[in-house]
Amino acid sequence: MLAHDSIWDVTPQVQQWQRAGERIGFVPTMGNLHHGHLQLIKRAQQVTDKVVVSIYVNPMQFGVNEDFDNYPRTLEKDTQKLENLNVDMVFTPSDDSMYPEGVENCSYVDVPGWLCQQLEGAHRPNHFRGVATVVTKLFNIVRPDVAVFGEKDFQQLMVIQQMVRDLNMPIEIIPEPTIREGDGLAMSSRNQYLTKTERQKAARLYAALNETRERILLQNMALSELEQATIMQLEQVGFNPDYVAIRRTDNLQEPDTSTDSLVILAAARLGKTRLIDNLRV
Ligand code: PAJ
Repeated sequence: MLAHDSIWDVTPQVQQWQRAGERIGFVPTMGNLHHGHLQLIKRAQQVTDKVVVSIYVNPMQFGVNEDFDNYPRTLEKDTQKLENLNVDMVFTPSDDSMYPEGVENCSYVDVPGWLCQQLEGAHRPNHFRGVATVVTKLFNIVRPDVAVFGEKDFQQLMVIQQMVRDLNMPIEIIPEPTIREGDGLAMSSRNQYLTKTERQKAARLYAALNETRERILLQNMALSELEQATIMQLEQVGFNPDYVAIRRTDNLQEPDTSTDSLVILAAARLGKTRLIDNLRV
């Protein structure tokens, strides 16, 4: 596996592969790799000839009171996992090379309107600006044909899809379903912040999404009432929910009565840990 930490080494190598007729797949990550990440990589390997994985904890997408400093950085273990999967290149840029003039002085990409302002965007101001900007930078450095993103971060996936469409980026975006622990908890690098008792409770988030799904299918309750009921249910087991929202899968807008493709999205704190999850109906 090639390992590059200089942005200048990546593009020529990828171009050499492309000149030889190979299709390039890309999986951007922040590292601390788990089976969810590895699933995206396997998917990329199925549809392309060479796969590049980036590991970069992007300061621009973290808010001032968020976990940037504490975010788990486990480069050695991550590299071993990528070696085992026969990944072709790992790219681990430094902050200095990504933001030589500092995060504040870097041009940025904003996906406009409510998509970035609601749900995650409402609770994490400028988060999606940071995501869209770093993904654009990584796309321009790696220049992949295909990039794979997880449905675990459903809204992020939609932001990336809109950005690629709006800006005519010549990259195919492939979504990949959420990988879960045995008890249903969506895999996440942040799960390790949970204490033992919190970890036991954490699976209740996915359970609550499933119960809400059942009720949407079986009961004739208004969706806003169902959202409220789920929030109360989460509070009862000790969560502090940021939101529970039942939305259209195609654009995350509030559904009207004719919409049949729905997704339930939730974010909730358990102690100091913020968990997000979603479930299609
Ligand atoms: P990170 O949280 O490391 O996630 C990298 C990719 O893995 C994302 O596409 C995410 O949706 C996917 N992923 C995470 N957990 C998953 C799970 N349990 N099942 C399936 N896929 C999962 O998301 C980011 O990093 C960053 O915002 C990034 C896109 C790299 C930009 O900095």
